[in-house]
Amino acid sequence: MSRIAHAGVGGWGKNVARVVGELAELAWVVDTDAARQAEYEARYPQARVTGSFEEALADDTVDAVAIATPVPTHYALAKQALEAGKHVFVEKPPAMRGEEMEELVALARASGRVLMPGHLLLYHPGLRKVKELVDSGELGEVACVYGNRQNLGVIRSNENALWSLGVHDLSVILWLLGEEPSEAVAHGIDYLQKGIEDVVFCFLRFPSGKVAHMHLSWLDPHKMRKMTVVGREKMVVFDDMELERKVTVYEKGPWEPTHGEWRTRTGDIFSPKIVGDEPLKLELQHFLKLVTEGPGDRREATDGLAVVRTLDRLTSSLHTGAPA
Ligand SMILES: NC(=O)c1ccc[n+]([C@@H]2O[C@H](COP(=O)([O-])OP(=O)(O)OC[C@H]3O[C@@H](n4cnc5c(N)ncnc54)[C@H](O)[C@@H]3O)[C@@H](O)[C@H]2O)c1
Repeated sequence: MSRIAHAGVGGWGKNVARVVGELAELAWVVDTDAARQAEYEARYPQARVTGSFEEALADDTVDAVAIATPVPTHYALAKQALEAGKHVFVEKPPAMRGEEMEELVALARASGRVLMPGHLLLYHPGLRKVKELVDSGELGEVACVYGNRQNLGVIRSNENALWSLGVHDLSVILWLLGEEPSEAVAHGIDYLQKGIEDVVFCFLRFPSGKVAHMHLSWLDPHKMRKMTVVGREKMVVFDDMELERKVTVYEKGPWEPTHGEWRTRTGDIFSPKIVGDEPLKLELQHFLKLVTEGPGDRREATDGLAVVRTLDRLTSSLHTGAPA
């Protein structure tokens, strides 16, 4: 069983630590907060608890590290762990600049270690179903994809809505379409804190001609976690706010009975069964499989690089007002 050092047991990190403890041996818990260290000493008496990441990395019996600390610390911690010869699972995004992510990917390759960013939604059974519908051709030719990720809060101060929320939808959009955008445009507003956009609208155009859109906001009356894919034959909606009907397939589409005369066609609307497996568990199971069996084609790391590179371009468009 792999021995894991886990860093960061805050709001989300405590979930990662719990699942690591269920699937592998939680050997170390690292957190700079003394109160959290005390809490984890009591909760996991078999694990070593420390405020020093270096101390955990110095343990030669540790195979891998899971990082769920604040975003600005990810790159330095992941780099340190790879340099210490550990496999790395790092929460999204692993870096805040494309060049930093390139460096991490190269480092993992050179050291033969796994680098896996925490793109949780790629392991969501509902989105796996959507991917299956896209790849099987059941939707027909895809025209566009759009994501809605809105809520009132959580208002962050060390990253904007693009980086905090957009990384989720972007990872899904690039994975569904299997390409990187040729054009990236973002507009937004830093309404509450100067320089930190609370509301961001993004437009992406892909080499195939497909387009995508993301509405990202923590200043919104609706709590939305939705992804819509529009195909020529069918359309599908993934709605993570739904308890049972996470995926709805609409047999709707355009219809051209005679050349140049466009009508619409409406058929059945149905919801395929989606298993209730916890995405975080599926995600960490995948990481542990890579740790045991090797990094394979390194798709997880290169997908993560495409996401950070696109976020970089959207950030530049957000600042200049011009397409990137
Ligand atoms: N995949 C998801 O759905 C999802 C959801 C929420 C958050 N996240 C990601 O998880 C990460 C953590 O988010 P959170 O909400 O738990 O943050 P948080 O601020 O609640 O917790 C961060 C924890 O890290 C500790 N910490 C800070 N610097 C450290 C360091 N250098 N070494 C060790 N510990 C350190 C802090 O003391 C704190 O306990 C972020 O990257 C966030 O983007 C992912």
